[in-house]
Amino acid sequence: MDTIIRAENIHKSYRMGRERLSVLRGASLGIATGSFTAIVGASGSGKSTLLHILGALDRPDEGRVEFEGQDLRRFSGRRLNQYRNRSVGFVFQFYHLLNELNVLENTLLPAMAAVGSAGWIRSRTSRQEAACVLLERLGLGGRLRHRPYELSGGERQRVAIARALMNRPALLLADEPTGNLDSKTGFGILEVLKELNRGGQTIVMVTHDDRIAGLAEVVWRLTDGKIETE
Ligand SMILES: Nc1ncnc2c1ncn2[C@@H]1O[C@H](COP(=O)(O)OP(=O)(O)OP(=O)(O)O)[C@@H](O)[C@H]1O
Ligand SMILES: [Mg+2]
Repeated sequence: MDTIIRAENIHKSYRMGRERLSVLRGASLGIATGSFTAIVGASGSGKSTLLHILGALDRPDEGRVEFEGQDLRRFSGRRLNQYRNRSVGFVFQFYHLLNELNVLENTLLPAMAAVGSAGWIRSRTSRQEAACVLLERLGLGGRLRHRPYELSGGERQRVAIARALMNRPALLLADEPTGNLDSKTGFGILEVLKELNRGGQTIVMVTHDDRIAGLAEVVWRLTDGKIETE
């Protein structure tokens, strides 16, 4: 089976005044292309830290991340930006939607960033159509002009997922995608992710919730800064 992303011996600590807080202490994992993996761990165990490192939003102190066999440390700044914008889609723990923009505009943001202003003028109509198809698929066809604050929590999370998928990333990284939702809405979001995975999308999700994690295909645990297989 192909491995889309591999992390080896990842160490990360934060300096807090004179103390050093060691969060990741030799975490290693490999994600099979096409799989749906959940990493479960207590609050503060380093799940977001690990996911940010996989998405190149943060750098490890030690260890390496390989995407499709290529070491991220060898990527130029430009290649890294491309990686963040196109190879991976990131669903943030607290949505990070822009309140000034409506649902459709929020979803289009990564596409705008990917092509720049000249490319945007050329490709705008087709991308808007693609965003509408995506939002329709996520059950938001009737909410295109709503602003984030006019949406329910589950709807906001689905906009965040649509935005993450906009550039057709090979890998979707979801940070606690059900964390701020009631359990029924949370399971609904999980169904959305499972459906995407059935369509071929590789997904890594982190969560503190064992019941949610148990619905993924592969479950790993983050404890004491390391990954343990269940
Ligand atoms: N920028 C930072 N500076 C200092 N400490 C940090 C920083 N980011 C995270 N930490 C600390 O590192 C630890 C791991 O944080 P992280 O956000 O990765 O945990 P988490 O497993 O995602 O938790 P949660 O389930 O609550 O989201 C926490 O104890 C946190 O306080
Ligand atoms: Mg977190």
